[in-house]
Amino acid sequence: MDLQLKGKRAIVTGASRGIGRAIGDALAREGASIAICARGQAGIDEAVSAFQAAGAKAYGEATDVRDSKKFAGWFGRAVEQLGGLDVLISNVSTRVEGSGDQWWRDTFEADLQQHVRAFELAVPQLKQSASPAVVFVSSIASTLTQLPPYEVAYGAMKAALTSFAGQMAVVHGKHGIRVNLVAPGPIDFEGGFWDDVKQAQPAIFDRAASLSALGRMGRPHEVANAAVFLASPAASYITGANLRIDGGLLRTANF
Ligand SMILES: NC(=O)c1ccc[n+]([C@@H]2O[C@H](COP(=O)([O-])OP(=O)(O)OC[C@H]3O[C@@H](n4cnc5c(N)ncnc54)[C@H](OP(=O)(O)O)[C@@H]3O)[C@@H](O)[C@H]2O)c1
Repeated sequence: MDLQLKGKRAIVTGASRGIGRAIGDALAREGASIAICARGQAGIDEAVSAFQAAGAKAYGEATDVRDSKKFAGWFGRAVEQLGGLDVLISNVSTRVEGSGDQWWRDTFEADLQQHVRAFELAVPQLKQSASPAVVFVSSIASTLTQLPPYEVAYGAMKAALTSFAGQMAVVHGKHGIRVNLVAPGPIDFEGGFWDDVKQAQPAIFDRAASLSALGRMGRPHEVANAAVFLASPAASYITGANLRIDGGLLRTANF
């Protein structure tokens, strides 16, 4: 299938490792131009070099998506470098540790507000695109009602993100802007959260991996393939969808 992404211009937040990086790799292979951010410059440089080696036009610069002023500046430069915008893939999550009110406020910023901000910055640009699309990276934590204590606020924010994305799909459908989510289950990659668990608590890792119907954790490219499809003109009649990519972990009918 031709995803018709050649020459499309895409922003991917948090693309220096894991799922975001795999999304960047997939977009580069499809011939899209890509702008990325993360906080660490070294990871950005490595990713941008890889995208360029795959033949893509790529731009990257360190920024923290939680800093509204800096992020808006970064976003403007990214759009300028790309020469417009067709696709936003809002992927960042920042694992916030803490407790109490401050922890909830920090998680709100890290897992909801910055996605809303990215979307609002993108809309005026996307209105000028012939095939505008947004994909938010959510989590099955948005659905689960039994999460470890450190993921309680994260799950609630991902649930709010799901509501926001669905509403925006309706509001902006008249502009042709499609808005979808992917909701990964546990995804393992070197340097990621589950890799740390694998090293420190292998029994917990094995238990988590065994929960899916497929009996294993997912890999970043398995989320990226779906996210890039949803962002592509090949998914032109899909909007407001929340696609679980969890190997069948959630044992509910997905109506
Ligand atoms: N991995 C999983 O098992 C899993 C499961 C379900 C959902 N998800 C979702 O998938 C998405 C990606 O997670 P991941 O596990 O692949 O990657 P990750 O290890 O959480 O890394 C996220 C990426 O975002 C960047 N980043 C983090 N905080 C940032 C900030 N404040 N400003 C700018 N960039 C920032 C990171 O680089 P820097 O650290 O250099 O900033 C990195 O490039 C998240 O939305 C997560 O909730 C992941």
